[in-house]
Amino acid sequence: MTNLAVNIDHIATLREARGGTEPEPITGALLAELAGAVGIVCHLREDRRHINDRDLRLLRDVIHSKLDLEMAATEEMLSIAIDIVPDLVTFVPEKREELTTEGGLNVADNIHYFTNATAIMREHGIEVSFFIEPNELQIEAAATVGADIVELHTGIYSNAINAAERDFELRRLLEAAEIATEAGLRVTAGHGLDYRNVRPICQIPNMEEISIGHAIIARAVFVGMDQAVRQMIAAMRG
Ligand code: PXP
Repeated sequence: MTNLAVNIDHIATLREARGGTEPEPITGALLAELAGAVGIVCHLREDRRHINDRDLRLLRDVIHSKLDLEMAATEEMLSIAIDIVPDLVTFVPEKREELTTEGGLNVADNIHYFTNATAIMREHGIEVSFFIEPNELQIEAAATVGADIVELHTGIYSNAINAAERDFELRRLLEAAEIATEAGLRVTAGHGLDYRNVRPICQIPNMEEISIGHAIIARAVFVGMDQAVRQMIAAMRG
């Protein structure tokens, strides 16, 4: 059975729109947990455009399921992770000018760097996931650097403009999950998933967890966080 981790960045995005204190991302995280999320995800960006250091500290204190810190593998972020000790870090690529994370991480061209970064996290008892495109080169690279998990990028699948393209991408994700499992990695997925396209991803064998932010927070504006999370879990189960 595939579990749901909820990304709460967009609650903080809304708060930052007015530079005040509401809505409170911590409240959203607690409600998501109560509604059945098995993990809370947040991305601490270099520019702190949504989640900030205070949010991360509070989340560490109050989240009892699993805290997944998405971050670039920079020196600054590695030292924050060592300080906070999330349950999991997910290494993601990060560009200042992007609206959201675009594309997967290039692990294959940075084996030495990521081997080191992964070892540092593991020494501190933090599991490590890599957000990568569903291709063999990057999966093998993630296994080589010592990853526990690969999060397969579902952006192309989610943005497919017709059924043929969507089916093609689904097959790529399915094959990637197989390769990752054979390489001894656990498999998760995320990016752009919504209430309509989530089910086939959850039917991929060994798909342990999916990470969803935008679709859930967008629906929560109308139906509340509790209902938005419960409705997503229902869509995942079919
Ligand atoms: N996984 C990763 C690594 C991401 O960077 C994001 C976006 O923050 C997500 C999942 C969730 O994507 P979405 O907000 O489109 O559901």
